[in-house]
Amino acid sequence: MDEEDNNLYHDKVVIRLIQFSIIWAVLAMTVGVYISAELIWPSIDFGQFWLSFGRLRPLHTNGIIFGFAVSALMATGFYSVQRTSHAPLYAPRLAWFCCYAWQLTVLLGGLSLLAGWTTSKEYAELEWPFDIVIAVVWVCFGIVFFGTIANRKIKPIYISNWFYGALIIVIAMLHIVNSLAIPVTIGKSYSVYAGAQDAVVQWWYGHNAVGFLLTGGFLGMMYYFLPKHAGRPIWSYRLSVVAFWAFTYSYIWAGPHHLHYSAVPEWVLSLAMIMSVILLAPSWASMINGIMTVSSASEKLKTDPALKFIVLSLAFYGLATFEGPMMSFPSVNVVSHFTDWTIGHVHSGALGWNAMITYGTFYFMVPRLVGVELYSLRLANIHFWMALAGTMLYIIAMWGAGVSQGLLWLSVDEIGELSFSFKDIMSSMTPYYALRLIAGIIFLGGTLLMGYNLFMTLAGKHALKVYAPAVSPAFGVSS
Ligand code: HEM
Ligand code: HEM
Repeated sequence: MDEEDNNLYHDKVVIRLIQFSIIWAVLAMTVGVYISAELIWPSIDFGQFWLSFGRLRPLHTNGIIFGFAVSALMATGFYSVQRTSHAPLYAPRLAWFCCYAWQLTVLLGGLSLLAGWTTSKEYAELEWPFDIVIAVVWVCFGIVFFGTIANRKIKPIYISNWFYGALIIVIAMLHIVNSLAIPVTIGKSYSVYAGAQDAVVQWWYGHNAVGFLLTGGFLGMMYYFLPKHAGRPIWSYRLSVVAFWAFTYSYIWAGPHHLHYSAVPEWVLSLAMIMSVILLAPSWASMINGIMTVSSASEKLKTDPALKFIVLSLAFYGLATFEGPMMSFPSVNVVSHFTDWTIGHVHSGALGWNAMITYGTFYFMVPRLVGVELYSLRLANIHFWMALAGTMLYIIAMWGAGVSQGLLWLSVDEIGELSFSFKDIMSSMTPYYALRLIAGIIFLGGTLLMGYNLFMTLAGKHALKVYAPAVSPAFGVSS
């Protein structure tokens, strides 16, 4: 199982992780579509607890973040660290262990959520037995990754590895600290933190899970795959290093912007707001660096769906990282918090940035990994337009819903009573939710097309060999 293909690099584990990532994307997005429908027709839970919105929502978020995103990050991390280090994976058997142990944890964790096991901490819902396994697998991921870097044949550590490295270290720290709990039974524990401290620790975790997993790890992906695919070096290497340190330093302080108007001390909230605004700079620095890198490869951009996905993802990254700092101002947050505006912000990042960059990267990697042409360029182009349409429709619907909710909730009549009841406002949301449902179906449909296209590419090893990797005696594969 740990045999080396392409002479020097261990790529079979990369292919397997890509397959798992696509499977999780389809499953978790199907759940996303189902819960979107439940918000229109609540009775489709058919009175079953395990089909209720409360159980399926964390199944969607855990499936998409831990199943789809982490598998994609492991795949792309293992692929790029070998090539940037000019060395095969350190401890390949451990890499296979990470691959399968992670999938099993996500699967069993998902079932435990359906059964009602939950810590009730968002993005950290899994109970203590899963937390322990996650910590162990994550440390193994770190050993493989940093071991490969330690064995590198060239001195500099390329910038993508700094981002992947930060992802591994920071997520380990956040996960372990936030999950500290006293177990009561096999499926129930209580956090060691209480009250406002619990909230601050939870959102320190929650925001940095977004920061280092959904952003830092994906920036690592961008810094390797964009220049590689555009056939250009990164526009400014110096800017990428400055952006890395500024990003890492500022993110860690910003978590309490999730807790405006709460019992958390005012200075903590103000500091979080300031750090959130500062974050705009490193975020846009990376976006601009990426766009400038591709600007001289505009011909390829017109025809290559993989590159189109990656560049579009940068535009959505820019959008989400502009909107986020704005939402961290208390005066904006008073409208956006508790509304679908947040859900719109989340999915402009999740669909537009995370999913699209992953799709572009998979379209780039899979043909190269098996040494054949992509099965269908046409299907990939159709997928591109479906992904764009789905994302735009999703976020427009949620902005419409969110801003309406925020303003209607805040409106009071002349004697200071609420002008609209919660129930009335929510019943006026059906058209927006219907649009989101359509958007989700389109986005999921595109993902299914990609799954089929890449499956056929993987199955067509006999097809025209266009990317047959050229083996250089010193460093293995040059692609
Ligand atoms: C400069 C960058 C960013 C800043 C300062 C920022 C800021 C914010 C703020 C203020 C909120 C609302 C908090 C609340 O009212 O409770 C939020 C929510 C959220 N953001 Fe961002 N954001 C940024 C980028 C991103 C990106 C790129 C993603 C990628 C997916 C993302 C994912 C999320 C998620 C998942 C939530 C919802 C958390 C929850 O309540 O469950 N953000 N963000
Ligand atoms: C077919 C595509 C998708 C659909 C239809 C969908 C739908 C939904 C729905 C209905 C919710 C619950 C909203 C609420 O509580 O009111 C949700 C939450 C969430 N989704 Fe998705 N989703 C999709 C794709 C994704 C992807 C690709 C990601 C991440 C990469 C993602 C990450 C999240 C997160 C983090 C939340 C929690 C947001 C929060 O608490 O503020 N979703 N999604």
